[in-house]
Amino acid sequence: SIFPNENQASIAAAQKIANLIRKNNNGKKPTVLGLATGSTPIKVYKELIRLHKEENLSFENVVTFNLDEYYPMKSDATQSYVTFMNENLFNHINIEKQNINIPDGTLEEKDIAAFCLAYEKKISAYGGLDLQLLGIGRTGHIGFNEPGSAPNSGTRLVTLDDLTRRDASRDFGGKENVPTKAITMGVGTIFKAKEIILLAFNKKKASIVKKALEGEISPNVPATYLQLSDNVEFILDVDAASDL
Ligand code: GLP
Repeated sequence: SIFPNENQASIAAAQKIANLIRKNNNGKKPTVLGLATGSTPIKVYKELIRLHKEENLSFENVVTFNLDEYYPMKSDATQSYVTFMNENLFNHINIEKQNINIPDGTLEEKDIAAFCLAYEKKISAYGGLDLQLLGIGRTGHIGFNEPGSAPNSGTRLVTLDDLTRRDASRDFGGKENVPTKAITMGVGTIFKAKEIILLAFNKKKASIVKKALEGEISPNVPATYLQLSDNVEFILDVDAASDL
């Protein structure tokens, strides 16, 4: 769907998430959400916070799994995705601490493979992700699945693309300070979600959105794999949709 602006698009995405949570809350079932970071989902989280504060939306039965985290990364660093999620969502809603899952950037490298396997198992143990929220990087990455990622890839340690590190350099005060690696859910992990929403706003995303939706399906642009799924919706503003 294409919306006139980022605000309206974000409200629509938040509404979908809220409807799912409300339906599950009524049926006393947990809602398992896959969450994303970056500037794109911030307004979705703002609207969810508003719905919590003003319209009684309860996150008591919500379980979350974040897509990714830089590696290495201290949890309390300003650039960590733990800090991002706390500030932009978790600190403002009634989610239980034990229901929050984010890849651990503090692990020793030798422990990462086991952690990633356990992350996958934990998602499966909850019955899989009900809904995965995605942004898109200018390399065509979803999560941190950079060009070269396989369609069946699982949660793993990856090397970040140079363009991704350049795009992150403002947050880190220079590209040289951006970690070279990250832990990310795989394309295969994302694909198992019952529903996927990809958000993209802004003119600077127009060309990658066109490639993702209309380009040849290829590991060179991992977001093109989404063309293979029937459960994905692109929620765009007019600027991000302007090359379609
Ligand atoms: C990071 C995140 C991605 C996100 C991308 C786009 O690389 N790991 O999940 O989609 O940034 O960021 P932004 O939304 O700020 O454009």
